[in-house]
Amino acid sequence: MSAPTDSHQVRIQSLERTTNCPADQSILEACLRDDIWLPHSCTQGTCGSCKMKVLDGEVAHNDSSEYTLTTEERAAGIALGCQATPRSPLVLEPVEQFDPDDGVPRHQLRDHVGTVVALDDIARDIRLLVVELDEPMEFNPGQYAEILVPGSDVARQYSMANPPSETSRLEFHIRRAPGGVATDGWMFRSLGLGDRIELKGPLGDFGMPVVQEEPAILIGGGTGLAPLKSIVRHALTHDLAPELHLYHGGRTEQDLYDVEFFRDLEREHDRFTYRPCLSEQDWDGATGMVTDVVLQDFPSCRGLSAYLCGPPAMIEAGVKALKRRRMAPRRIHREEFLDASHAATAAP
Ligand code: FES
Repeated sequence: MSAPTDSHQVRIQSLERTTNCPADQSILEACLRDDIWLPHSCTQGTCGSCKMKVLDGEVAHNDSSEYTLTTEERAAGIALGCQATPRSPLVLEPVEQFDPDDGVPRHQLRDHVGTVVALDDIARDIRLLVVELDEPMEFNPGQYAEILVPGSDVARQYSMANPPSETSRLEFHIRRAPGGVATDGWMFRSLGLGDRIELKGPLGDFGMPVVQEEPAILIGGGTGLAPLKSIVRHALTHDLAPELHLYHGGRTEQDLYDVEFFRDLEREHDRFTYRPCLSEQDWDGATGMVTDVVLQDFPSCRGLSAYLCGPPAMIEAGVKALKRRRMAPRRIHREEFLDASHAATAAP
């Protein structure tokens, strides 16, 4: 079967799957929409996890940056799946090895429409947004959706904070960015209850979708708590890990939210602990940078795993701290929140 003239056939060799990719759509998006899962994370051209080897055919690299895709890589036939579009029929192979039969559920990327059913200020410059979808969206804990700003071609990524058992009611934690088109210009200004919202998802590969034998440390900065909340709720319900230790960092108490929710969860589950940490305020809880508090609490992290979500500086400090405590690098999972120019998860 030949593809329509404005699209090209794209074949993923090792998966023996073929789809049609519109000439103006990224190869990654076309595959995810056709239920062909490929490694990816940011979908914004910054992380490099979607690199693909072009075995046959020609691609347009579009906005792929030299930082993520070097000149040498392009010359060697490597492309970013989330940026490249087809110029001809293609045969491709993901650079990152993955096992399609590893037991991790994969969910098809789809467009969705929903209604705003809750919109509350829950901390300084942070809003809770709850959207009731017209059609359910299957996702893994830790994944995100891309919300479209009405009347523009701007989209912003926000992690689902609810567990994946709630497929029709999505919870997002929105951080306000001064002057941000999505937040100051819409979600913190004119968006209201009952408004309709367009989004697409799920996206990303951060999370703990299957059972692991080792205890886990979860570290969130700001609204980096959102995917961790989804992971914690899912993991406790399905016994995914023997112990879960959640750390949430903020500057002052005004930055914390869901404190009572997690304290209740701690009372209900012996294997769950919760430590909110403040870096700029003395109080009766943990004080200091969240990653330093983790270091104090764990003299050794050997044999543990970690899930980190927050600003790049926090992630960098956290990864260093965990490695210093002997955590194996392959057990450190991370999701960076970048600024709007990079537009990663929970961007303004
Ligand atoms: S660079 Fe393509 S998913 Fe991150």
